[in-house]
Amino acid sequence: MTAPFPAPMKFGQDEPLRFEGEIIDLELIEGEIPADLEGLLTQAVPEYLYPPVTKTLFPMDMGAGGDGMVRAFRFGGGKVDFATKFVKTERFLAQRKAKRGLFGQYRNPYTDDPAAAGIERTTANTGINFHNGVLLAAKEDGLSYMVNALTLETIGKYDANGAITSKTLSAHVRMDPKTGEMLTFGYFADGIGSKTIRYYVVDKGGKVTHSAVFQAPEAFMVHDCGATDNYFLFPLMQFSTDVERIKQGGPFYVWEPDAPMIMGVIPRYGSGDQVKWLRGPNCVLTHTINTFEEDGLIKFDVLRVDGNCFGFIIPDLKGRGGLFGEAPTRLVRWTIDPNASDGRITEFKDYGPVRGEGAHIDDRWAGRRHRYIWLPELHQSTAAGGAKSPPPPPPPPQVGRWPGEVPAGGGQPRMGNEHGNSPTMFNAITRIDMETGERRQWFAGEGVNLQDPVFCPRSANAPEGDGYIVGIRNRHGVRGGELVILEAMNIEKGPICVINVPVPLKLGIHSAWLPGYRYGEIRA
Ligand SMILES: [Fe+2]
Repeated sequence: MTAPFPAPMKFGQDEPLRFEGEIIDLELIEGEIPADLEGLLTQAVPEYLYPPVTKTLFPMDMGAGGDGMVRAFRFGGGKVDFATKFVKTERFLAQRKAKRGLFGQYRNPYTDDPAAAGIERTTANTGINFHNGVLLAAKEDGLSYMVNALTLETIGKYDANGAITSKTLSAHVRMDPKTGEMLTFGYFADGIGSKTIRYYVVDKGGKVTHSAVFQAPEAFMVHDCGATDNYFLFPLMQFSTDVERIKQGGPFYVWEPDAPMIMGVIPRYGSGDQVKWLRGPNCVLTHTINTFEEDGLIKFDVLRVDGNCFGFIIPDLKGRGGLFGEAPTRLVRWTIDPNASDGRITEFKDYGPVRGEGAHIDDRWAGRRHRYIWLPELHQSTAAGGAKSPPPPPPPPQVGRWPGEVPAGGGQPRMGNEHGNSPTMFNAITRIDMETGERRQWFAGEGVNLQDPVFCPRSANAPEGDGYIVGIRNRHGVRGGELVILEAMNIEKGPICVINVPVPLKLGIHSAWLPGYRYGEIRA
């Protein structure tokens, strides 16, 4: 490899590893792996095969720009195996063949090497979902890729046998545990900055049974979604894209602080002319926790951020960003009337402030009223950005120098603290009872990171919440990682089991759990 990674990219846990491999029967450090914990923990990880061919690095390049890698831990019989493998996207294969980087900035084809022309540039690095027997590795800038859940070998691009005509598919989809359907969509479906959204319902066997196409009111990010028995929801996030800006080398997204909440609602099997765009207050909704219906009204559990929830990776037009955990965030349950005559969303139940993101539920309760959520948080003792007190000085603007170049050895760290440690996004996990409001928390300590812990049911028919929370723990300055396992209903007691993973575990994005009782669905 003749082109080294620039210094800002070799930042603690975010240092590129570029490694594929497996470890059989990981070493147990503490406790005992529960015998009834059987299933596959998968995670989508951005991992550069080669550095981007750009002199200007934005936080998005470092945090979410890398080639997709699927990381997997297979639990069963009180043992766990580990494997990690790149998704063999067109982009990956082209760079592997050329033995050099060909692609420029995050989602910016205008910064690519001419040799990259015509090559699909999606990285499949953000979301991981299991449907119709295969894993779908997804980034919302292109089609998803099918990955064999047993071997992690890439099968190919996913277009449901040609039925999906969108150029993009979302990283987040909704699975209906009752029907086995997958509800998915693509935004920027006709290309970067297009307002076209294409929506699909795919049945359990992989056949597209319904689709709709329509225009969004703004060219905003539509990162997540919601589904109920009768509706599908498209919450627009107030991050806009402008082709002219990225042609000039500007950031792909900028935050639009004055835009209201905009929520698209379409009947689950409705046509494009049935979509309604409802407006709410000026706040950003982050990842969907769950959605369900009661008395003809939609309930939407989500975190409400009064500020820029992605300030650590997305600036505003003036280049102002922020630290993770800085923007005021509350857990809310919105009530959405799909037939509201005034097109407004105003009613919500407030569950109070949180300092987290990416909550999980017991997925068997998706689309119906759930009781528990598990929310990764930044502990109250930890300053925004992850530094111990006293907090670090104000960070430099979290935006690349545009136009211009990153100074030698400089650039903008994605986050981190004054010691140069890796970012701490989450160092605690909180179980919240949505009926009583009770919170129970496990604080994993300073100087650690928890990566998207997920809920794993004890069995197919176990009551809601009866099972485990499994996640990755990184420690600052330590190149290896750990798996931690907690009893989901008693997380405040801390891990019942810690497992050594003797290779660096770069910060990944989303995780998913495939229960062992569904292994029979896997297609080889
Ligand atoms: Fe996400």
